[in-house]
Amino acid sequence: MNVNVKKKEKKKYFIPFIILGIVLVILCVVIGAYNYRNIKLYNYIVSSDSEVADIYYNFEYMILWDKTLNYIRENKKEVRFIGEDYTIIIPSYEISKYYNFNVKFNEGISEIKDFDGISIYSVDFSDFDDLYAVGGIEFKLPDTLLKSNIVDVYKYENDEYILYKKGTKIFTDRIYFNMLDDKKENNKYIVTYVPLKDIVVENDVLEINNKSSLDLVVKPLPDNATYEKFNFYSENDALKITENGVINAKEAGEYKIKISDNEQRIEKEITIKVIPIALELTADKSTISLFPGNTSKINVNVLPEDAIDKNVVFESTDTNIASVDDSGNVTAVNVGECEIKIKSASVENLQISVKIIVNEKPAINQTENNGITYINGVLVVNKKYSLPADYNPGVDQTALNAYYEMKSEANKLGFSLEIMSGFRSYTTQEGLYNRYVNTYGQAEADTFSAKPGHSEHQTGLAFDLGWVDDAYADTDEGKWLAQNCYKYGFIIRYQKGKEDITGYKYEPWHVRYLGNPLATDVYNSGLCLEEYLGI
Ligand code: DAL
Ligand code: ZN
Repeated sequence: MNVNVKKKEKKKYFIPFIILGIVLVILCVVIGAYNYRNIKLYNYIVSSDSEVADIYYNFEYMILWDKTLNYIRENKKEVRFIGEDYTIIIPSYEISKYYNFNVKFNEGISEIKDFDGISIYSVDFSDFDDLYAVGGIEFKLPDTLLKSNIVDVYKYENDEYILYKKGTKIFTDRIYFNMLDDKKENNKYIVTYVPLKDIVVENDVLEINNKSSLDLVVKPLPDNATYEKFNFYSENDALKITENGVINAKEAGEYKIKISDNEQRIEKEITIKVIPIALELTADKSTISLFPGNTSKINVNVLPEDAIDKNVVFESTDTNIASVDDSGNVTAVNVGECEIKIKSASVENLQISVKIIVNEKPAINQTENNGITYINGVLVVNKKYSLPADYNPGVDQTALNAYYEMKSEANKLGFSLEIMSGFRSYTTQEGLYNRYVNTYGQAEADTFSAKPGHSEHQTGLAFDLGWVDDAYADTDEGKWLAQNCYKYGFIIRYQKGKEDITGYKYEPWHVRYLGNPLATDVYNSGLCLEEYLGI
C-alpha cells in the first residue's frame, strides 16, 4: 500500500514538471518556428538583388519582425507576399509610414495596418468564382477601416493599381461593388482610406468674364486622400456655383465660396474675384474712303464700360494701301483697298475690322462766283477762302429745315439741341472777332474765331448747337450729334486732330450743312472738309 502510495505521490510530484516541460517544448517550437520563418524571410529579402522581393509563402497568420520591417523601410524595397489565394503588395513608399505590420488572411482578405491614419486592405478575388454568380462582391471591413463612411478601391491592371471606385460608400460595415465586367482571372483590389487633410483650390482668385462661367480646380491634400465629392456653397446670389464647382457670375466683385468634402471633415472658404473684361468693340465708322496722304482716326468704343482692360490693338492688312498707328490714326498710302483690324489687347478672338478704300484724288474743280468760292460745287469758307463783306444771305432755308428734322429726332431722345448761333453777318462777325482779340490777343483768338469774311456762319449754312464749350463733346447730346448729324446733311466742321488743317480748335458744337449724300461721304471718310475736297 505504502509503496503504492509512495509511487502515486511520486507520480503526482512529477506531473507539473511534465506539463511545464511540454509547455516549454511547445513554446520553443513555436518561438523557434516564428523566428525561423522571420529569419528565413529576412534573409530572403536581404539577399534579393532586385528592388522587388517576391515571397511565395503559405501562411495563415504571421507577425513580422521589426528588424524585417525596418530593413524594408530603410532600403525602400517593394515586397510582394504571394500566396495561393492572396497577394499583398507593399510599395516601399507606403512601408515608411508603418510602425507595425500584421498580416492576417481570411478568404483572400488581407490587412495591412498602421498607426498613421492610413489603412490598406488588399483582396484578391481570383478564386471567388461563386461570388461572381451574384454579379458583385461584398466584403466586410474590419473596425480599423471604419474611421470613415467611404473608402477608395484600386484595381490591379497592367502591372499597376489604378483607381477603380473613388469614395465608395460603406454600408454599415461592408462595401459592395459590381463585378460583372471584371470576370477575369487574377483580379486584385486594394481598399484604402487616406484621411483628407486639406482642400487645395488652385485658382482661388479668378478673373472671369461677367457673362461666362469658370471651372474651379479643386484638389485634395494629400492627392490620394479619400473623399466622395466636394460641396460648393456661395453666400451671394450674384455668384452661383453648381455642385460640380462651375461658377457663373452676373456682376464684378469679390465673393466668398465655401468648399467642404461630403463628410464635412474639412471646410474651406475662398475668395472669388470677378473682373469684367471687354465683351464688345464698336468703331465709329465701318468704311473709310480716303485719298493718298489723308489721315483719319478710328474711334473705338469698348463695352462694358467698366471692363478692366479697354486697350485695343490696330493692325492694317496691307500697309502698302494704308497704315495705322497705336491710336487708330489711319494714313492712306496708295490707291486700293485693305482692312484695319481692331483687336482687344487682352481678350482673345474679340475683334472687328474697318474697311479702307483709297481712291485716286479727283481733279479739283474750283469756281468763283461774285467772290464766293466753290470747290467741286461746294461753297467753301475757311482761313484761305473768304466771302465778300456784302454777302448777306441770311439763314439757309434748306439747312434750317434739315436742322428742324434733326432737332425733332434729338428731342425724342431727350436732347434739346437748341441753336446758340446761326447766321452771322460780316459786321456781327467783325464785332465778335474784335472782342475776342481784345480779350485774348489775336494769336489765341485766331484759334477759335474767324476773321470777318472768313466765318462759315456768314454762309447761313452753319449752326452752333447745344452748348458752346469743349465739354459738350463729352455730353450724351454732343456724342449723339457727332454720330448722327450726317444723316441730316450736317458735318462737325472742326474736328479733333484736324486743327492744323482747318486752322481752328475742335468745335463739337459747330455743324455745317452740306446736304446728302455728301455729308455721309465726308462723315464716313473721317476727313475734314478741306481734306475731303483735296484743297
Ligand atoms: N468759331 C468759328 C471758327 C467761327 O468763328 O466761324
Ligand atoms: Zn460756329
